[in-house]
Amino acid sequence: MKFYKLVENAVKPGGFWGRLMIRSMNKGHSDLTDWALGFVKIENGFRVLDAGCGGGRTVQKLCGMVGSGRVCGIDYSALCVEKTKKLNHKNVLCDKADVRQASVSDLPFEDNSFDLVTAVETYYFWPDKPGDLKEILRTLKSGGRLLLVFEMLQDPENPEKWKKVEDRLHIKAVSEEEIAGMLRQAGYHHIETHIKDGTSWLCAVASKE
Ligand SMILES: C[S@@+](CC[C@H](N)C(=O)[O-])C[C@H]1O[C@@H](n2cnc3c(N)ncnc32)[C@H](O)[C@@H]1O
Repeated sequence: MKFYKLVENAVKPGGFWGRLMIRSMNKGHSDLTDWALGFVKIENGFRVLDAGCGGGRTVQKLCGMVGSGRVCGIDYSALCVEKTKKLNHKNVLCDKADVRQASVSDLPFEDNSFDLVTAVETYYFWPDKPGDLKEILRTLKSGGRLLLVFEMLQDPENPEKWKKVEDRLHIKAVSEEEIAGMLRQAGYHHIETHIKDGTSWLCAVASKE
């Protein structure tokens, strides 16, 4: 029961269980995020968006990588926005980090704003995946990249692997082919996928032309 209360709060963290989930995600997604960030070059001065920023650990990591650049974080959960601002308060104060409550379906940013958009363990929950990928594409600069990161990769040898979580949260684990296809259809180019040996970790990197 407690397990499910916690897991349900991955969708849109709120209240007591949401606070616990945020703490657990900040810790539990850290190595996955570090691995995936190794596939993108982050330059001094980059403008980066972390979509579905949860408790803000990725925003914190990115702030340490962009030099004189700027990192935005959005999440549709008010609690996540509060926690991300708290974790990154020094960077928020000096305007290096900008954290807002927003949906990935309607990003509060101009066209061509970002050199990189990251999205860690959040894609499963997006309401309109083709439209949401296009909305991110709109905010990327020409040559900008999207990094999608997953730990729920389908296992053809064990199709039931994620069943309990999938049923409880009404989401689906992903496959490499499906994600590459979705990115292609949404208009992305130079699509790469990477799987970490011995894990269910997948990341996809794709560019705007
Ligand atoms: C499993 S958590 C991952 C959080 C964070 N990226 C991390 O790695 O710890 C999923 C996050 O995506 C957010 N989210 C889900 N759907 C969203 C949407 N449509 N727009 C914005 N945020 C969304 C949730 O509120 C939650 O914070």
